[in-house]
Amino acid sequence: MERGLSADARNFRPSAIRRFAKYYHDPSIIGFAGGSPSSETFPAARVAAIAERLLREQSSVVLQYGPTAGVPRLREFVAGICRGRGIDCTTDDVLITTGSQQALDLVAHTLLDPGDVVLVELPTYIGGTGSFYARRAEMRGVAQDDGGIVVESLSEAARRFQPKLLYVIPNFQNPSGRLMAQQRRDEVLRVAEEHDFLIVEDDPYGELVYAEGADTTPIAARPGSTKRTIYLGSFSKVLAPGLRCGWIVAPKEILAAIEIAKQAADLCSGMLDQSIVDEFCAGGELAPQIERVRNFYRGKRATMLAALGEHFGGRATWTPADGGLFAWLTLAGDVDAEARIEDAVAAGVVYVPGAPFFVDGSGRNTLRLTFAKEPDERIRDGVARLARVFA
Ligand SMILES: Cc1ncc(COP(=O)(O)O)c(C=O)c1O
Repeated sequence: MERGLSADARNFRPSAIRRFAKYYHDPSIIGFAGGSPSSETFPAARVAAIAERLLREQSSVVLQYGPTAGVPRLREFVAGICRGRGIDCTTDDVLITTGSQQALDLVAHTLLDPGDVVLVELPTYIGGTGSFYARRAEMRGVAQDDGGIVVESLSEAARRFQPKLLYVIPNFQNPSGRLMAQQRRDEVLRVAEEHDFLIVEDDPYGELVYAEGADTTPIAARPGSTKRTIYLGSFSKVLAPGLRCGWIVAPKEILAAIEIAKQAADLCSGMLDQSIVDEFCAGGELAPQIERVRNFYRGKRATMLAALGEHFGGRATWTPADGGLFAWLTLAGDVDAEARIEDAVAAGVVYVPGAPFFVDGSGRNTLRLTFAKEPDERIRDGVARLARVFA
């Protein structure tokens, strides 16, 4: 079978965290493993009402093919969102994608040749590296600390490897939950200019802010940065991932090539999905929705942090999870989080071990915990169980 596969396909990497999916829907196991938003945040009744009206009144549009770049009014709305985040762009600079995951895949297809080097954070999002590996690119890791990417490590890697691009998630990163300091973002751009590589800035979590004063201004908002940054956004975490709506803002020539890659990939993103999102946004419903989602997660995040303080004090450190969906734990000493998974499941709790998020094979003593899924009581109980597993 292997013989029939392309060289790209032979380099495909299945997601190393998918194998925990079997525990996600088991109610007897407290779930800290998933990466999905809580379905309690989905505005299901509004989506149903909008869909019903669209199908009744505009079926010839919403059940038809649409423009590859996306529903025009939604592109315009997204350009407004991006300008609100400080990015200098117009509707023409925006392409709607089938989730930001497709954006990653299209970027990889459009920019990467086999052997090209992509710099990624240690740790980084597995779906990003999955898209880059699928084009036979080489990943090189750049150190991260609590302020985000370590600039000296980035400079050093840029000098050694002459990367084609850097992939970063500066706002409440998946998996670490970290927020990159604004000054680091300036420096990332400076290093990219010095070594002439592109920055793919993936920002699906920037709106999920829980802490006062967290500055989420993207790298793409720096003056002059739009020639060098490819900015990705998504409605998945604030609205509903099943609607599969994300976007790319990129320099003109790159966006034109990406649009052709998208024609080959799927002609256009689902028109019904896009039209529902478009109506929701045009009706002014997005801002209050984001506020509701923030409030929903804020309390759960506080519960998890308090439980970690109670049970893991002195035995681990963790990120403050000032936004996003994850707390990231680094255990003291020589502990292999992956080796404890079966024990944890037997104890009725599941997490994601951190090592698969590190392209250099490090991070064995780390784990990712989501606070999105469980009610407060089970978050407290789950952290206590986890502490016993790692006692
Ligand atoms: C950092 C990051 N990028 C991209 C995605 C893909 O999201 P979507 O395709 O639903 O927009 C995710 C999903 O978890 C993510 O965490």
